[in-house]
Amino acid sequence: MPANIVVGTQWGDEGKGKIIDIISSRADVVVRSQGGNNAGHTVVNNGEVYKLHLIPSGILYKDTLCLIGAGVVLDPKDFIGELDSLESRGISTVNLKIDPRAHVVMPWHITLDGLSETFRGGKDIGTTKRGIGPTYMDKYERCGIRMYDLVHPDVLAEKIQSTGKLKNKIITEVYNGEAYDLDKVTAEYIEYGKRLAPYVDDVSVLTFDAEKAGKTIMFEGAQATLLDIDFGTYPYVTSSHPLSAGVCVGTGVGPKVITNIIGVAKAYTTRVGKGPFPTELDDEIGKKIRETGGEFGTTTGRPRRTGWFDAVIVRHSVRVNGLDSLAINKLDTLANLDTLKICVAYKKPDGTVTENFPPVLEELDGCTPVYEEFEGFTEDISKCTSFDELPENCKKYITRLEELVGCHVSMVGIGPDRSQILER
Ligand code: GDP
Ligand code: IMO
Ligand code: MG
Repeated sequence: MPANIVVGTQWGDEGKGKIIDIISSRADVVVRSQGGNNAGHTVVNNGEVYKLHLIPSGILYKDTLCLIGAGVVLDPKDFIGELDSLESRGISTVNLKIDPRAHVVMPWHITLDGLSETFRGGKDIGTTKRGIGPTYMDKYERCGIRMYDLVHPDVLAEKIQSTGKLKNKIITEVYNGEAYDLDKVTAEYIEYGKRLAPYVDDVSVLTFDAEKAGKTIMFEGAQATLLDIDFGTYPYVTSSHPLSAGVCVGTGVGPKVITNIIGVAKAYTTRVGKGPFPTELDDEIGKKIRETGGEFGTTTGRPRRTGWFDAVIVRHSVRVNGLDSLAINKLDTLANLDTLKICVAYKKPDGTVTENFPPVLEELDGCTPVYEEFEGFTEDISKCTSFDELPENCKKYITRLEELVGCHVSMVGIGPDRSQILER
């Protein structure tokens, strides 16, 4: 049965939430498989804005089963806040399940995220400071606390004592910070566990059974390809695998289940946090795109860096994710610019040109974008109802973009609302 993956193809915030919400209307099950509350996915329905961080975007449909897989890291305090906020708006969360294997973000993870960023000085990553990296570190160090532990008070108390002592030592002796009162943390987290216990269930089994029963499944990617720990701009990346392949290990399903992989990009590029950005516009045009597009982080509120569409990075994403099609959002934001540019290749310091994204930053260093230029458009496209209705210059831009990245563009976003999408 159809099992779609939606992944980000740039540096995040491509409008995945909107695309997932649209596709979720046809899905029985929506699954998150990696990342944590570093994500911020916006869904707009008839002027109602929902900002989701951990809960799958399918939650807005009352009959959709929403699953949080083993590969996710979950901050229970923040998660409960998200549950309460949805419930206060009349959205039911009874169809939500969390895998017992998912790791729990503990308060020391958040503290260590901040402390290590400060320690890096000018070379900080610009993380969301949600404790994501330190939680994944513990997972791979094999000393993490998991959802199963959270909802079993005896196990939780023992694990908090053993791992907490080590964390306190690091916080106080390496960073001169303040130790956590482990009894207080235990009491607080036991309460979170009580609240979350009804949500814990085996997501691998639930997904497998849904697939066998012929249900339609949607895998909701968080973060994006250029933030992947291996295939992104390391070390300026997140600590998980936001690629399509990450979905299988993060959920516990085999790759043969997947039938369709959709990449999401903006009609330009943004990045929040530090790290290289070859097509960045540090000028009036960049500022205009930021203001018109409302480019401020959904999670941290930080201004997003802006730049031209980079076909080199999206081509890289088409390859490493095995994309079947692309959704291009925010074409409307590019209105009223005289000239639009797409980066088609990079010129290396030795004068040679490459169309492939360099594997390491040392090779990206000194590369400059080679641009192709397009005439802009001035029309308000936000009310168009079909691709054919778009101004000729928009159609030319999208058609050339799809040629350059080597992937069919099946959807074009012309506004934030659920309805503002042109399907091709
Ligand atoms: P995500 O993290 O990929 O889900 O994206 P975010 O929600 O963080 O950021 C995307 C922003 O763009 C949100 O404010 C969306 O409401 C908005 N958005 C999505 N698609 C479009 C579009 O086609 N046009 C405009 N103007 N805004 C859009
Ligand atoms: P969505 O799902 C944009 C970025 C951070 C930072 C780097 C590492 O909304 O697209 P982390 O806190 O993960 O250790 O930070 O990754 N980052 C995102 N940028 N969108 C996101 O998620 C992001 N999640 C993490 O800004 O540069
Ligand atoms: Mg976002």
